Amino acid sequence: MGFSSDWLTLREPADRAARDTPLLQRALALAGSDPVVMDLGCGTGSTVRTLAPALPPHTSWRLVDNDPELLAQAAEAAGPHSSSHLVDIDRLDQLPLEGVTLVTASALLDLVTEDWLVRFAAILTVPFYAALSYNGQMHWSPADPRDEWITEAFNRHQRIDKGLGPALGPTSVQRTIEVFEAAGFHVVHAESPWRVGPDSEELQRAHVAGIAEAAAEAPAEAGAEAGAEGKAESARAWGETRMAQARHTESVTGHGDLLIIPPSATEPVVS
Ligand SMILES: C[S@@+](CC[C@H](N)C(=O)[O-])C[C@H]1O[C@@H](n2cnc3c(N)ncnc32)[C@H](O)[C@@H]1O
Repeated sequence: MGFSSDWLTLREPADRAARDTPLLQRALALAGSDPVVMDLGCGTGSTVRTLAPALPPHTSWRLVDNDPELLAQAAEAAGPHSSSHLVDIDRLDQLPLEGVTLVTASALLDLVTEDWLVRFAAILTVPFYAALSYNGQMHWSPADPRDEWITEAFNRHQRIDKGLGPALGPTSVQRTIEVFEAAGFHVVHAESPWRVGPDSEELQRAHVAGIAEAAAEAPAEAGAEAGAEGKAESARAWGETRMAQARHTESVTGHGDLLIIPPSATEPVVS
C-alpha cells in the first residue's frame, strides 16, 4: 500500500505535538555524542525534521523506505550526512545497521507483523525509538451513536496485510512491549494521543475521510451475516456527517510511543 506525501505532510504537525516529550528526550540522549540514526519507514522525513534540531549537526541519517518518492523527500530533509536505502524492511539482512547508534520509526509498527517484531528483536543491539503507533482507541466530540461501530470496523481494517503479512494494527503497542520484553529489552511506554481540533479543519476532514473509507472496506466481523454493502454505505454516511461537522469537532486518536532499550545499553541521565 502507498502513503501519500500530502497526507504525511498534513498530519506532521499533529504527529509532532502528540509525541511524548520526555520519551523523545531519552531517545535523543541514547543516540550518543556521534549519532548514527537509522529511520525505518522514513516517509517524507517527519522523524528527521523532529529530531534533527536537537541532535548534533554532524548526525548521520540512514533513511529506509520502500517508496522511492517519499525516500527522496526525506533525503532532502536530512541533508548531506544522510544515505537513502530503498529497502523492504521485511529484508532485515538489507537494513544498514552497521555502526547505527539509534533506530527510529514513526507510525510504522501498526503496519508490521508479530513475526517481524520477533525477527527484528533478534538482531537489534541498539536503542529503538518507535513513536506514534495507533492503539485502537478513538474519541469524538460531539459524539455520534455510530462512533463505536466505526472504530471497530476501522480496527478490523487495520489488521489487513499492509505488505508484510497480517498487520498488528491496534494491537501493535501491546504486542511490541511483550515481544521485546520477552527478548530481554527494557521497554518504556508513553501515551501520545493525536488531537485534532476545530482549528485543523483540513486535517480533520482528511482524517475522517480515511477512517470512513477504511471502515467501509473493512472485513466483516467473524460470524457476521451478509450485508457488507449496507455497512459500507453506513460507514460513508458517518464520514459525510463528520466532515460536515469538522469545524466543530474535536477528535482524539490513541497512539503510543515506545523506547526499547537493549540490556547492553547504558542510559545517560537526562537533565
Ligand atoms: C504511515 S507512513 C509513516 C511515515 C513517516 N515515518 C512519518 O511518520 O510520517 C509508513 C511509512 O512506512 C513505509 N513502509 C511501509 N511498509 C514498508 C516496508 N515493507 N518496507 C519499507 N518501508 C515501508 C511507507 O512507505 C511509509 O513511508
